[in-house]
Amino acid sequence: MATKSGITATTGTVTSAGSGTEGAAVAKALDERAGADHARWEFRDRKTLLYALVGNDFGPEPETRLDEIREYKKNESKFLLDALKPNACDRVIDLGSGFGFIARVVAPLVERVWCLDISSEFLECAKEELRGFANVEFQQMDFADLRFLAGKGITKGYANAVFIHFNFFDITLYLRQLFEILEPGGLFVFGMSDTDTLDITSDRYFGVVLEKYKENRRSPVLMHWNSAKAACRAAEAVGFRAKNACSGGGSAMILLEKPEKEVALGQAPAEELTSAFCQWRNTTAALINQARNLCIRYPKDRDARYALAESLRGAGMDDLAIGEYQALLQDCPGNERQRAEQGWRNARRIEVIFRRFLRSGFRPRNMRRDTTRKCGAHTLGGKSNEGGKLFAWCGK
Ligand SMILES: C[S@@+](CC[C@H](N)C(=O)[O-])C[C@H]1O[C@@H](n2cnc3c(N)ncnc32)[C@H](O)[C@@H]1O
Repeated sequence: MATKSGITATTGTVTSAGSGTEGAAVAKALDERAGADHARWEFRDRKTLLYALVGNDFGPEPETRLDEIREYKKNESKFLLDALKPNACDRVIDLGSGFGFIARVVAPLVERVWCLDISSEFLECAKEELRGFANVEFQQMDFADLRFLAGKGITKGYANAVFIHFNFFDITLYLRQLFEILEPGGLFVFGMSDTDTLDITSDRYFGVVLEKYKENRRSPVLMHWNSAKAACRAAEAVGFRAKNACSGGGSAMILLEKPEKEVALGQAPAEELTSAFCQWRNTTAALINQARNLCIRYPKDRDARYALAESLRGAGMDDLAIGEYQALLQDCPGNERQRAEQGWRNARRIEVIFRRFLRSGFRPRNMRRDTTRKCGAHTLGGKSNEGGKLFAWCGK
């Protein structure tokens, strides 16, 4: 069976492949069918379509083993269902639905399924396979064009054994389209062939596909390997949260989530801001504690007191920093005066600017996009609030 390292959802056809002489026969059938249009995954007859779907895994007459193929696809769909957890309100796309074997499992669980395919022949097969299902729609699509789904309220989707045929440009184009049509909070999962975990000497498919590639480098039905890490980064650049949900043996399953609130282009995602803020707060809090302890243990050490004053200032607690500098100035040796006054002035300047902000009607809110709320910091207004000032200035 076309199962790689237990990540069945990421496999499927090695179109034009399979191994040994049987594999070669399948390859020939796929290549030589008169009138076939590989760019659109049209192969003229059902047997060849099935070859394109499952390779040689079900022998030379896959059309006689449909029940086994259905069962096999049902097993594959478990990975997708686990990742998507579909419910009765979900409106789901099956991108590259093939014979509709997976949509058959998903349709009873959700409100509506759109079977989308670049191939009219595959769509006809899916229509036949799913004729008993009232909540399934069928749509032939152009390459990387999902605009017709805009406004349809798509909450989830999957592509099984489809992205394994994409190069990195294709992946990027589809990611962009998916981001456009998914509802905020929407999920999409896809399997891909993954160079990050690929061993070219032992991989079951790689060598076979390599030979086919030598014969026809432009065949759109060949498998393509891409880096799962790079795919996740591309998805994140598009706006998704991306997770490599499962990987190994040259395959990966990527789960995408469209954030609830879209982050405007050029703005940092709220989670990243929150994480940066928390890290800053923890670091500054640790510094302050360390300096305080030093001052307690060595009350006469003025450098320890400067360290405390500076860490308070760095944490945005300028009112406390001012107090520390004032204390340092009280018994200040002449050669140190400049240092203490400079510190005091810096802290005071920030404090004055802050007060001016407040007087001019600036109402400090939590950090941009509620990031402080998430990490538990509070709004400004009170004093010495763990450096909220710095971030509050970002607010408008
Ligand atoms: C290997 S089959 C997988 C079918 C199905 N997802 C399954 O797992 O049984 C690949 C399917 O993706 C479709 N396909 C290939 N390229 C596509 C594209 N760029 N856009 C949409 N569908 C595509 C093919 O027509 C075919 O139905």
